[in-house]
Amino acid sequence: MSSPKTYFVTTPIYYVNDAPHIGHAYTTVAGDVLTRWHRQRGEDVWFLTGTDEHGQKVLRTAEANGVSPQDWADRLVESAWKPVLHTLDVANDDFIRTTQSRHTERVQAFLQSLYDAGHIYQGDYEGPYCVGCEEYKVAGDLIDGTGEYAGQKCCPIHSTPVEMLSETNYFFALSRYGQALLDHYEANPSAVEPASARNEVLSFIRSGLDDLSISRSTFDWGIKVPWDESQVVYVWFDALLNYATAVGLGDTDEPGQSKFASTFPADVHLVGKDILRFHAVIWPAMLLAAGLPLPAKVFAHGWLLVGGEKMSKSKLTGIAPSAIIDHFGSDAFRYYFMRAISFGQDGSFSWEDMSARYTAELANGLGNLASRVTAMTNKYFEGVLPEAVSSGAAEKELAQVAARAAQAADSAVDSLSFSGAINATWELVDAVNGYLTIQEPWKVAKTMDTDQAARDSVATTLYAAAEGLRILSVLLNPVMPKACASLWSQLGAEVALGSLASQRIQDCGQWGLLPAGSVLTKGDSLFPRLEDPEEFSS
Ligand code: ME8
Ligand code: MG
Repeated sequence: MSSPKTYFVTTPIYYVNDAPHIGHAYTTVAGDVLTRWHRQRGEDVWFLTGTDEHGQKVLRTAEANGVSPQDWADRLVESAWKPVLHTLDVANDDFIRTTQSRHTERVQAFLQSLYDAGHIYQGDYEGPYCVGCEEYKVAGDLIDGTGEYAGQKCCPIHSTPVEMLSETNYFFALSRYGQALLDHYEANPSAVEPASARNEVLSFIRSGLDDLSISRSTFDWGIKVPWDESQVVYVWFDALLNYATAVGLGDTDEPGQSKFASTFPADVHLVGKDILRFHAVIWPAMLLAAGLPLPAKVFAHGWLLVGGEKMSKSKLTGIAPSAIIDHFGSDAFRYYFMRAISFGQDGSFSWEDMSARYTAELANGLGNLASRVTAMTNKYFEGVLPEAVSSGAAEKELAQVAARAAQAADSAVDSLSFSGAINATWELVDAVNGYLTIQEPWKVAKTMDTDQAARDSVATTLYAAAEGLRILSVLLNPVMPKACASLWSQLGAEVALGSLASQRIQDCGQWGLLPAGSVLTKGDSLFPRLEDPEEFSS
């Protein structure tokens, strides 16, 4: 019996020319939320991220800093790219670097097999190249330079001049795959999303594919072409293969062979729309040539913008994730970017918006709800969750809202609508808060020592609110793992229900799972009120 396929999610592997900014963090957090959600469903998951270390862009940065490219890459990976995963609270399963031998050796074997099978030939390349994109450009994609670049043709993404290449190198016969790719996307409409990305890819393929130069001879920072060591592999051809080399591409021994069989291809490649064509045209064509299966989905999300332009390392417009997380914490960061920007569209970060949402939604919304419920349970019932002895229409309604929220959030994640999932979950946050406002247990409690009906009412209300929080901890755990771990422990849920990790999304919306008798404690505030960030006071 074969085991079910591992749910395999990837981020781009990022260039190590500089440290990460919140644009990179955005993709990585989305991948982390997605994989945590699937883990919470009980699925086997593999979440891969890493770094792209070859090519001219990294080479030139290293040279400008007077160190070897390998030293530069090592330095950036250890001081910036790995630590940011911790800062973001990301639970990746692997981290691949393209300079690791597990990658370089498998890339060489892959290339050799394509060469042997006649998919690669030698030819002359002449045309414009953007080192910022590490991409061969076509004249029609270029813009006219302005300012210091007036009179020159520039890259539309980087606004810097392209360079003219004229080299003899090796070509991959990409043009052979146009029809096969169109057929594939016809048969699998969700293989490229959102619709705008799909349309871009289809019209690009329909306009005709040229063969692709996949090696370079004018510098040597790359993987050597195995049959011609005067050439190095084009950095994108090298980089795209990380999605396969990291899970054992070509291995005939264990554990590589089993890992590859159970994991490859990806269920979702998350990318920014800047690198859509590489992932939805070149990568699947490489796989078709090799007779390998194609990814289920490439999802191209939008850009974080600064002044209407893509935030970028090369334009020095990047905000470091820690600049936001040091103030608001990783949970709030993850929450903000997943909720405030609809996945697939461009968006901007603003301190004002972040601060407003933190206060209204996290501190006053969810955080205050949790502290009121645990505080009242302590005050009126010595922390022991009472039974819901007088449940009626209001509690039934709350149970229905909870079931609906869990269901709607789950299907929103299926369509990669993170904001949709959080919005659906917030229906429950608002419903429980609204319920407390109507029930006013703090008022009813005034007579509960002498009036059994009042005592029953307070008991029922606190039970229902705690039960709502139990469901919220599960649904929000993929987005805000730290706060949810704290909430789970404050609810005393572990004793009867086990670890938060063992709670299933598909079961959590069932009402009444948190048993009466659970011991609630009033822990630290989940989202302490914050002073305005310094940016405000200047
Ligand atoms: O392209 N908004 O690496 P890279 C949103 N090495 N996302 C952004 C962003 C922004 N302003 N800026 C960057 C490369 N990103 C290649 C990838 S994959 C085989 C090789 C995110 O360091 C987004 O995911 O330029 C984008 O596609 C990626 O970082 C580009 O990172
Ligand atoms: Mg880039």
